[in-house]
Amino acid sequence: MADTALQAAKEQILRAREDKSLRPSIAGFFDEATNTVTYVVHDPKSRKAAVIDSVLDYEAASGRTSNGSADRVIEYVHSNDLEVVWHIETHAHADHISAAPYLQERLGGKLAIGRDIIKVQDVFGKLFNAGTEFERDGSQFDKLFVDGETFRIGELEGIALHVPGHTPADMAFIIGDADFVGDTIFMPDFGTARADFPGGDAGQLFRSIRRILSLPDETRLFLCHDYKAPGRDEYAWESTVGQQRRENVHVKDGVTEEEFVEMRNRRDKDLAMPKLIMPSVQVNIRGGRLPDPEDNGVSYIKIPVNAV
Ligand SMILES: [Fe+2]
Repeated sequence: MADTALQAAKEQILRAREDKSLRPSIAGFFDEATNTVTYVVHDPKSRKAAVIDSVLDYEAASGRTSNGSADRVIEYVHSNDLEVVWHIETHAHADHISAAPYLQERLGGKLAIGRDIIKVQDVFGKLFNAGTEFERDGSQFDKLFVDGETFRIGELEGIALHVPGHTPADMAFIIGDADFVGDTIFMPDFGTARADFPGGDAGQLFRSIRRILSLPDETRLFLCHDYKAPGRDEYAWESTVGQQRRENVHVKDGVTEEEFVEMRNRRDKDLAMPKLIMPSVQVNIRGGRLPDPEDNGVSYIKIPVNAV
């Protein structure tokens, strides 16, 4: 079957490689506590912008949130005179809480995620025994993207690609010639995202990654996380399709799906759960909002015991 979404993405990228004015300006903000990169992507002409994968600081031991990371984004938006039109989540993160509601309140803009967040809400709604007040229809978000759906940031063209495997809802967002790949591939010397969370699938992840890697070689790839790598002491989060095809230690050209699945499943068995998975997931499936306060006015984060 012809992959029309992928074809449209290729054409958009080639247009932006030919015409500089169709390429976004991109700033990455690295959060060392969770190894997450937040991006502010903007159209230099209209000054319209999107914030991708923002981070709300959270200290698990005390249950306190703070806004240092989010405030750095706000400062950047203001000092560059940007108008935020989108807050985009590549997926429901398991390692940090999203700052999207905090940023949305201060900067405006619509909150978007992939349509299959509904599947993630269903799985985790059951795990956390959420009551009927927790809607499992994606209504906490302003926009649910499906594969191949297009959007705009001022005059910049964007297209969403569904790239499941790490979670069922992962999307890659291609803006001009830049692809924000979410949790699929990491830097070439580190490899790929894990595929062992509920709803994850290593074979599906491999096929999603190969789809991304069939984009033009010069496509700029912006990664969701970095953990350094043996022999590399600096954090890094930008790569290209060509570089990944030549060098990625897990998925460079020539690696078969069978080899990848065997490697991924073996590695995932030894990985600990992310420190913030329980708070992150139950807040992020609510669009980054804390569970409703109880009758004393306090919100509580639940931890299911011996359930995962
Ligand atoms: Fe993730």
